[in-house]
Amino acid sequence: MNLKAQELLRQNSLEDYLDFLYQIRNFHMTKYLYNSHSEVDHYGEVVKFKDYYLKQHDVKLLGSLTEAPAFDKYRGCIMFEIGPGCPETIKAKTIPLVDAFKPKQYVAVDFTASYAEQASDTVAKEAHGIYAWYTVCDAFKSLPILQSKTPSVIAILGSTLGNLSDAELRAFFRYLGNNMRRGDALVFTVDSCLDKEMLLSAYSHPYMEGLVKNVMRNLKNEFDISSLNPELFTLQVNWNRGEKSIEMNLMATHKQSFALDGYEINIEEGARYGVAKSHKFHATEINNLAMRYGFKVELIHTLPGNNMKFVLIEKH
Ligand SMILES: C[S@@+](CC[C@H](N)C(=O)[O-])C[C@H]1O[C@@H](n2cnc3c(N)ncnc32)[C@H](O)[C@@H]1O
Repeated sequence: MNLKAQELLRQNSLEDYLDFLYQIRNFHMTKYLYNSHSEVDHYGEVVKFKDYYLKQHDVKLLGSLTEAPAFDKYRGCIMFEIGPGCPETIKAKTIPLVDAFKPKQYVAVDFTASYAEQASDTVAKEAHGIYAWYTVCDAFKSLPILQSKTPSVIAILGSTLGNLSDAELRAFFRYLGNNMRRGDALVFTVDSCLDKEMLLSAYSHPYMEGLVKNVMRNLKNEFDISSLNPELFTLQVNWNRGEKSIEMNLMATHKQSFALDGYEINIEEGARYGVAKSHKFHATEINNLAMRYGFKVELIHTLPGNNMKFVLIEKH
């Protein structure tokens, strides 16, 4: 990772980690899941797992886009993809997306520098004639939107939007509402599965535990805390029916203590730390959000027996 990316990764991280360890803000650590500074790409492990249903459903849905109404109107657009993910998801999702829209420029926007770089390299190599580049930033705080004559299309796949809190989601839509121009579009996939058993078994998988533990591994690496053992936590998953969200917690299997920037952190055995939430959207929620911020729903594409929805909303 280059120096700039490292600086970006550290931005706000002390405040975020303190909020997390004192459980002041719950379930807001999603951006610390991906980059663990380790040899193992834990997100890559999750998506390679053959029953990882989020990827299976997304890939089927994107593959079927050729049967959905054409995207001719956006041909030649500038496409920003937020969070393309690891090489597996770039091949399975970014490439079909780019094939469907045929943008003239593709911009990978990811907080995880290696993912941003790999996505732009893959598009440049596999999708001929597209000018591809990338930017490393927190997309939900500082998304660059180019003001150009051609329309901009922002794509967010893999239910990444479902990880935002209600306040973050509203702020993001407000930002898009104020900065996107008439004719610009936002495309995203959301997970609409409400089957508790299916969700609990999908999210409780050991590969997912590896990914979620990255939060503690990142904390240890970024702040050089030799006395923190990230492996002494286990993944604990809840279905919050009222909020229609899967909640992923890390539960301490042992007591441990360490200092973080002068703060004494005492972790009790059995203590739970909320890492991330995945909100399962209903179509009406999407319509309401879109309307409130000046967008109109142009397309909601689903496949029978598939939990994912592909949504295209356009600025009016
Ligand atoms: C759930 S994965 C989705 C990956 C892929 N699009 C897919 O469909 O499977 C989330 C992706 O968004 C990135 N990401 C998460 N939070 C981010 C943020 N705040 N800013 C930029 N990228 C972020 C992660 O690094 C990762 O690549």
